[in-house]
Amino acid sequence: MEKKIIIAIDGFSSCGKSTLAKAMAKALAYVFVDTGAMYRAIALYFLRNNIPFNDTVSIEAALDQIELRFKFNAASQKSDMYLNGENVEQEIREMRVSQKVSEVASIPAVREFAVAQQQAMGVDKGIVMDGRDIGTVVFPKAELKLFVTADPSVRLERRYQELLQTDPSISKDAVAANLQQRDSMDSTRAHSPLRQAEDALVLDNTTLNREQQFELAMQWAMERIKAS
Ligand code: DC
Repeated sequence: MEKKIIIAIDGFSSCGKSTLAKAMAKALAYVFVDTGAMYRAIALYFLRNNIPFNDTVSIEAALDQIELRFKFNAASQKSDMYLNGENVEQEIREMRVSQKVSEVASIPAVREFAVAQQQAMGVDKGIVMDGRDIGTVVFPKAELKLFVTADPSVRLERRYQELLQTDPSISKDAVAANLQQRDSMDSTRAHSPLRQAEDALVLDNTTLNREQQFELAMQWAMERIKAS
């Protein structure tokens, strides 16, 4: 029988990582984990409870109160993020959270909290996880690591179109500023910054459509599954 592997997908914001990860998990009957949703839910909790981002004691106490769960939503056919039993899938995608999440994700205690849970989810393998540090920190021994990139203007357009669906008043400039700010914070932070793992395969999807990207990634996945 074919062995299950771990597929780690990293890259900048709005590169299409989650779309790819979701499609691969479905095709392979693997578990899909969007780790960005976990950092977003933590950021939402901090915002709601006015937790100061520089107060280690308050942060540790707040993390003790946070329970994160993914639950499959039959209607949308994807997993929703639950924070302490509440479905926060919509709210964590709002600009209010996007503007603060990189700062929250740069806090070492937050990363330790999230990474421990992510590693536990991968003990039985058969998982596709997307984020920023999956191939470097969470699963440094993953059988397949993908580093997804795309031209910044293509990423901006995709993100803008996505956000327009829930907020028709959103400005493209605001989306561009937020993307730029997150790219910079995610790749320059001291603790587990976004970087390409040495053994990652680069998938530049600037000129690829979803199907082409999926075909290529699945070809690589099948090779690694056969070799494992
Ligand atoms: O993928 P996303 O845009 O939903 O991620 C939200 C934020 O969380 C992003 O600014 C970077 C951070 N993040 C992280 O630091 N490490 C991860 N593994 C996933 C996301």
